[in-house]
Amino acid sequence: MRNIVIAGNWKMYKTQRESSEFLQGFMPELGQTPEDREVILCTPFTDLGVMSKNLQNSRVQLGAQNIHWEDEGAYTGEISGSMLTEIDVRYVIVGHSERRQYFGETDETVNKRLLAAQRHGLIPILCVGETKEQRDLDQTEAVITKQLTKDLVDVDQQQLVIAYEPIWAIGTGDTCQTDEANQVIGMIRSQLKVADVSIQYGGSVKPNNIDEIMAQPEIDGVLVGGASLEAQSFARIVNYQ
Ligand code: 13P
Repeated sequence: MRNIVIAGNWKMYKTQRESSEFLQGFMPELGQTPEDREVILCTPFTDLGVMSKNLQNSRVQLGAQNIHWEDEGAYTGEISGSMLTEIDVRYVIVGHSERRQYFGETDETVNKRLLAAQRHGLIPILCVGETKEQRDLDQTEAVITKQLTKDLVDVDQQQLVIAYEPIWAIGTGDTCQTDEANQVIGMIRSQLKVADVSIQYGGSVKPNNIDEIMAQPEIDGVLVGGASLEAQSFARIVNYQ
């Protein structure tokens, strides 16, 4: 079944204190949230421990923003799968465009991180998407096809979420037209071996466009940056109509 997956990506925002304050505003808004949707918060590593305690027995799942491919070792600054699963992290974002752009992430390292996540029983959220220049050159399909081909080598598609995040729409307020996002996500789905992989849209998702985005038949959820940082705004997105 294609689950509805609504995830917040906090990026490098919020201290532990701020994360607890967020939950005080956010959790009371989930009373009427339909059971059909998975709600995830992907927080900075330093927030995961306290978030894990605060989210016990709640319907909100915890996600990390990266994972190393080795189980342990001399990899200064990296975090392993068992460090995440020990504190009940269930999801992990892999291959976000900010990691590809600023931290030298390649399709080869993305693939290794995806395999490591699944080896530890985590569900990876694989991010793919094109730059503005690539879109203008009509290369969207070619770019995404290349990413999927390389990133998904030996990856179990039954235990996977994909996020289509056009890079030009991230943090710009310039949301991709919903029918265009729907069409690209349909193209992504046509390239997968498993038909019911949940595929999200990400890029300037806001309370005022979530209903239209989720009305699109191919879009199974959203990966939300800026609008997930404020409790009322993310609650409105989670409780879309
Ligand atoms: P914004 O929602 O801030 O555009 O960020 C999208 C994103 O990168 C989520 O991973």
